[in-house]
Amino acid sequence: MSVQKIAVVTGANKGIGYEIIKGLCEKYQGTIYLTARNEQKGKDAVKELEKLGYHPKFHQLDISQQASVDTFKQTHLCMNNFQKNATEPPLAEIAEKTIDVNYFGTLRVCEALFPLLRRNAKVVNVSSSAGHLYRIPSATVRAKFTDPNITISTVNELMKRFVKDAKENKAESEGWGPAPYCAYIVSKVGLCALTFLQQKQFDIETPSRNIAINATHPGVVKTDLNSSGVLTPEQGARSTLYVVLETNFKGKYIWWNCEVVDWYGERTPPRT
Ligand SMILES: NC(=O)c1ccc[n+]([C@@H]2O[C@H](COP(=O)([O-])OP(=O)(O)OC[C@H]3O[C@@H](n4cnc5c(N)ncnc54)[C@H](OP(=O)(O)O)[C@@H]3O)[C@@H](O)[C@H]2O)c1
Repeated sequence: MSVQKIAVVTGANKGIGYEIIKGLCEKYQGTIYLTARNEQKGKDAVKELEKLGYHPKFHQLDISQQASVDTFKQTHLCMNNFQKNATEPPLAEIAEKTIDVNYFGTLRVCEALFPLLRRNAKVVNVSSSAGHLYRIPSATVRAKFTDPNITISTVNELMKRFVKDAKENKAESEGWGPAPYCAYIVSKVGLCALTFLQQKQFDIETPSRNIAINATHPGVVKTDLNSSGVLTPEQGARSTLYVVLETNFKGKYIWWNCEVVDWYGERTPPRT
């Protein structure tokens, strides 16, 4: 008996997530869930897609709410695309929200859905060029992320430590980088670190499930998040669609042009 495959995209009512849904509708054989935190916006997006002949299903999902996350049942692909790009000062106020949505929100979705992932499932955490390790200026802080004994719990603690430092107005002096943008950078660096550790965990604990989890940088994309973006949302969706539909990558960091980038490398490639 064949098993119905399911794809879930978070934050998909607009921008890059919406285009990921479109790409999946064209090429993915299975049920596709467009999710959005705002029910009306999500349903409106589905209506737009229906006009184009695509038929994703809708599910409300606010990744900052555990109860909302818990309602999901099964998935085959999961693309964590949502974002919180809180860069307006003061940092002390925005750091917690940014880390809570971008980092702990992803973790929340992953913890709820990972036990349900079928064999050969693929997960993409949409990160950013801001998530490249070398976007953190301090070698001392970077070393905490490259510690060979690092675990997901350690990354959780690093994220909480950043929020604490930000609230005490010492994020910059502690080496996290200049305010306010460091909140977004730290959340995405944490997301990349999380992705690689999740892959490691799957490989060690349940290798027969053959789960693949990767992080992408969509490029500098013109969306509500980034009014000065140069790529279209469709171009921004390309790397994520490429990873799930055309590769068997595991634990990689993939750039907007579909090249694999060394997260540990000293040079961050051009953003677009
Ligand atoms: N655009 C760029 O240049 C760029 C560059 C690098 C990385 N990225 C990454 O690409 C991803 C998509 O960004 P985008 O440019 O497409 O942004 P966007 O157009 O602003 O879309 C962001 C999406 O995230 C949703 N969202 C925010 N908080 C959420 C929550 N708590 N739960 C569920 N969904 C939530 C938004 O919903 P609402 O409509 O309800 O707000 C929206 O659907 C993000 O992870 C971003 O960091 C973008």
